[in-house]
Amino acid sequence: MEHATTKRWQEAQQAELDWWQNWRKLPFYTNHSFASYWGNVISDVMSEADVAKARTIVEVGCGPHGVVRYMFKDAPVKLGTDPLLCQYDERPKPGGNTFYAAAVGESIPVKDGVADLVICINVIDHVMDADQILGEMRRVLKPGGQLLLEVHTFPAIFTPIMFFDHPHTYHWTRKTVLELVRKTGFSIERTRQLQFPISLPWTSFFVPSHWKYIFGKLFMRLTYVNCRLP
Ligand SMILES: C[S@@+](CC[C@H](N)C(=O)[O-])C[C@H]1O[C@@H](n2cnc3c(N)ncnc32)[C@H](O)[C@@H]1O
Repeated sequence: MEHATTKRWQEAQQAELDWWQNWRKLPFYTNHSFASYWGNVISDVMSEADVAKARTIVEVGCGPHGVVRYMFKDAPVKLGTDPLLCQYDERPKPGGNTFYAAAVGESIPVKDGVADLVICINVIDHVMDADQILGEMRRVLKPGGQLLLEVHTFPAIFTPIMFFDHPHTYHWTRKTVLELVRKTGFSIERTRQLQFPISLPWTSFFVPSHWKYIFGKLFMRLTYVNCRLP
């Protein structure tokens, strides 16, 4: 798939920053708890054995409320990375076993072969170069290490008309995500497709800025892929 230009990526990143500055005003995120949301996701998509084995964890594109902020409390080392980390009002504070670095996933500031688990959730449709990010995630993982990837995917019929969706630099289908993962050298252990986890009030039909969420609820899926290195 074609890479995004730096200019295009910067525009998308500005939209991302605006979204995180306003997300609490959206009616479907009233009382949202990231701690319980990520708790449910991880117990749904990872086995207890894999959670226990994850001692060094790197999260790519963690955003302000990423997984390492709330989960894997017993892991000795957790690193969250995101290019916007220093700009988010709700950014996490490092402390204890959790560290943060403002960085792009195209160049993860971590030595080769040190991570047991890399987490990358809802990121590769926001980036400049998804191939390079997958390559970097592979580089930092130990042999046999695990990648938990989640991508917002759409039916192929919609991808040619998704240019209107300016905040996203890429538009993926389940098939193109699996191709990318395999091409990078991961084996796929499990995939799951979940519905967009929001409850829309009927009033959203009368709010034009909510139509993208209605479209998402109908057609977009959260595609989770559990991948492993040989
Ligand atoms: C939709 S947010 C998801 C944040 C978090 N993973 C979550 O699920 O709450 C997308 C994140 O990807 C980050 N991002 C965008 N381009 C990136 C890149 N090239 N490398 C790593 N992260 C990137 C953005 O800064 C943003 O924080």
